[in-house]
Amino acid sequence: MEKSRHKQQLAVILLLGLWFPCCLTQTTPPTRANLAPTPSGTPKAQTAQLKVRLAGYPRKHNEGRIELFYKGEWGTICDDDFSISNANVLCRQLGFVSATGWTHSSKYGNGQGKIWLDNVICNGGEKSIEFCKSRGWGNSDCTHDEDAGVVCKDERIPGFVDSNIIDAQVDEKKVEEVRLRPVVATAKKLPITEGVVEVKHKDGWAQICDLGWTIKNTRVVCGMLGFPHEKKVNKNFYKLYLERQKNSYLIQSVACTGTEVHLAACQLEFNKPNATSSCAGGMPAVVSCMPGPLFVQNRSLKKKVKTSSNVRLKGGARLGEGRVEVLKGSEWGTVCDDRWNLQSASVVCRELGFGSAKEALTGARMGQGIGPIYMNEVKCFGNEKSIWNCPFKNITSEDCQHMEDAAVRCNIPYMGLENSIRITGGRTRYEGRVEVLSSDSNGTESWGLICGETWTTKEAMVACRQLGLGYANQGLQETWYWDSSNVTGMVMSGVKCIGNEMALSQCQHHKTVSCQKAAAKFAAGVICSETASDLVLNASLVQQTVYVEDRPLHMLYCAAEEDCLSKSAAKANWPYGHRRLLRFSSQIHNIGRADFKPKAGRHSWVWHACHGHYHSMDIFTHYDLLNANGSKVAEGHKASFCLEDTDCHEGVSKRYECANFGDQGITVGCWDLYRHDIDCQWLDITDVKPGNYIMQVVINPNYEVAESDFTNNAMKCNCKYDGHRIWLHNCHLGDAFSEEAERRFEKYPGQINNRIS
Ligand SMILES: *[C@@H]1O[C@H](CO)[C@@H](O)[C@H](O)[C@H]1NC(C)=O
Ligand SMILES: *[C@@H]1O[C@H](CO)[C@@H](O)[C@H](O)[C@H]1NC(C)=O
Ligand SMILES: *[C@@H]1O[C@H](CO)[C@@H](O)[C@H](O)[C@H]1NC(C)=O
Ligand SMILES: *[C@@H]1O[C@H](CO)[C@@H](O)[C@H](O)[C@H]1NC(C)=O
Ligand SMILES: *[C@@H]1O[C@H](CO)[C@@H](O)[C@H](O)[C@H]1NC(C)=O
Ligand SMILES: *[C@@H]1O[C@H](CO)[C@@H](O)[C@H](O)[C@H]1NC(C)=O
Ligand SMILES: *[C@@H]1O[C@H](CO)[C@@H](O)[C@H](O)[C@H]1NC(C)=O
Repeated sequence: MEKSRHKQQLAVILLLGLWFPCCLTQTTPPTRANLAPTPSGTPKAQTAQLKVRLAGYPRKHNEGRIELFYKGEWGTICDDDFSISNANVLCRQLGFVSATGWTHSSKYGNGQGKIWLDNVICNGGEKSIEFCKSRGWGNSDCTHDEDAGVVCKDERIPGFVDSNIIDAQVDEKKVEEVRLRPVVATAKKLPITEGVVEVKHKDGWAQICDLGWTIKNTRVVCGMLGFPHEKKVNKNFYKLYLERQKNSYLIQSVACTGTEVHLAACQLEFNKPNATSSCAGGMPAVVSCMPGPLFVQNRSLKKKVKTSSNVRLKGGARLGEGRVEVLKGSEWGTVCDDRWNLQSASVVCRELGFGSAKEALTGARMGQGIGPIYMNEVKCFGNEKSIWNCPFKNITSEDCQHMEDAAVRCNIPYMGLENSIRITGGRTRYEGRVEVLSSDSNGTESWGLICGETWTTKEAMVACRQLGLGYANQGLQETWYWDSSNVTGMVMSGVKCIGNEMALSQCQHHKTVSCQKAAAKFAAGVICSETASDLVLNASLVQQTVYVEDRPLHMLYCAAEEDCLSKSAAKANWPYGHRRLLRFSSQIHNIGRADFKPKAGRHSWVWHACHGHYHSMDIFTHYDLLNANGSKVAEGHKASFCLEDTDCHEGVSKRYECANFGDQGITVGCWDLYRHDIDCQWLDITDVKPGNYIMQVVINPNYEVAESDFTNNAMKCNCKYDGHRIWLHNCHLGDAFSEEAERRFEKYPGQINNRIS
């Protein structure tokens, strides 16, 4: 497709300012002076009165919620006026050389008890936080939703010893992991939803004493294990059995409020090291959880557990992660990340049938949305049924941009799916021939290859997801170029996936293996990737720029040579007469997390002499006009493109250009613009009768290049043609509308056709 040499750039002024992440600025390395040695010359541990520790979840030894021990009580610091200087003071108090960042809005969960300090302003050189300006001890108008945290540089001040930090590290290990041990021997089926709660410590697994155990504790445990809901459990059923066991109680009591995302965030009372069997009158805590519909095999149960239909996750590489999108009216939109935290993220996770949130991600870490932004400053308590029930602020356009889209990573139940698939022969751990575990009629399990014949990107997407390796970069039908010293036989063929399955075993496949080329070199392979591009078309630009042009044939020789006209053009009386063209501009954005690059290397690009440039992809888009039947009335010509960065968001630099055999592609944060007046940027509607139609543009229609999301690759519009002029309306991306709105949209040509006839 032609891109005129002097492509005038459409002045698209984006309202996208630079977004400065408040909390990740790297500070200058500490100088001798700001290390603030005590007069004796060696750094001293914390002052006797004031102790500082890191708490919360998910924390590491060098990051977490700040807690201060003052007047015999642990309390927190409010994030108001917090700064990197404050963090520097605190990190040095904790024995680290400096801070690399700080966090707000209780990123590590809400603390308890006092909020000791508020509006703290340090210069950065103070020896202790108590020497900084503040409102004074215990004087604060904040809630624990605003607890501050720090991220310290992982480098200790030489010679610094602090018992608190060491304590905290031990504590952390104590409740790092939680599991359910099923008691009934037959309950081996995954996921395990009921059993004795066990926590991991440095020497193994231990139980929790159930004295004072509440259903709220159960809720927290279930959430950690990937289950949205908790159930009552029949204790008597377990009592006899468990009393005969030797139990070791690491935790004496647990008091959760139910909204915590991790047991470590609840109030815990640990046993003294040598008092591990004291739980007089109690027994090990046993819980039962209710899985979300994705993880329920039982059909009648599946119907009972409903998930939300006005919240979804987009753009994630793995199950249970993605950008949060919410449905308002009939259109999907995103959530701004101001004050986005684990409590709110957990409400989203649970309403989608997962457990609590593992991470609340800010700054469009799962890619940017492109539609409206509906919510800001979402502040869930944690027990809401839906994010829509949480307090939030409406958005005004200046408030937020898509670079601030909120995302989540949810806890999901352990299904063991990754144990029945592996890849071999590749050069890295992200590529190889796919092998699946299958059992013969005797129940003997063995690994085997998959026939490459029906293998495409869709099947590879499922394989990469099951392997836990992210997106499919490529699905390969031949793998002869990889090491084949230890190949196995073929055990699967005819695999056909929809693309959203959790495992290959859920896809269609032949009952008995039937593969024409059964040699290992024709076995299916994958190249997986943690990131992928995501292309979307600017729908409103299409709608705004559409028009009809009658173009004389003598100006269309080049276009005809590139197959940009419909078949009837061949019968025209060249060079006399004209073709009727529906013209519009396309602006294709890469909103994903990796550059979009053509699959073919430059050695196989095709030189188009007529237009004077190389085409790197045979089929990059389909342009079609559909009638009520969904059949094409204007021959969708298969446009090939030369790909480049026409322009980028502020702060992103262009990398790809077509001219001079340059590298082709679209950078993340950039777009490729095909102006309405470029050759071939049209639909030939010479043979189309007046009426109502649906116009459709599909990018990357054959899944030739990996994308994180293919559901937004189609753009559709209602199209009205009166024989002279054309109008487009309701232009939208394939995944932008609610199902109901989409059904109404699809009816459009039919309804009007009836009225006309
Ligand atoms: C715990 O018990 C072991 C032996 O069982 C003993 O060596 C150790 O000193 C005890 N520790 C404490 C803190 O009492
Ligand atoms: C499915 O769940 C229902 C309701 O809990 C139960 O009655 C039924 O036995 C279960 N079916 C199977 C096959 O497990
Ligand atoms: C947000 O806007 C909707 C209407 O669009 C209104 O009903 C709602 O009260 C507003 N909420 C807030 C918090 O302003
Ligand atoms: C199943 O086991 C029997 C007896 O051990 C053996 O003869 C047969 O070959 C086995 N079948 C398969 C498919 O391995
Ligand atoms: C092939 O299998 C043998 C034995 O299991 C193993 O030692 C060898 O490393 C394998 N070779 C490759 C290339 O994986
Ligand atoms: C899409 O095009 C419209 C109309 O030209 C423009 O205002 C808008 O900024 C574009 N959207 C994006 C995301 O660039
Ligand atoms: C639908 O398709 C059939 C056959 O392709 C055609 O005969 C019929 O006229 C079409 N209907 C409409 C409304 O276009």
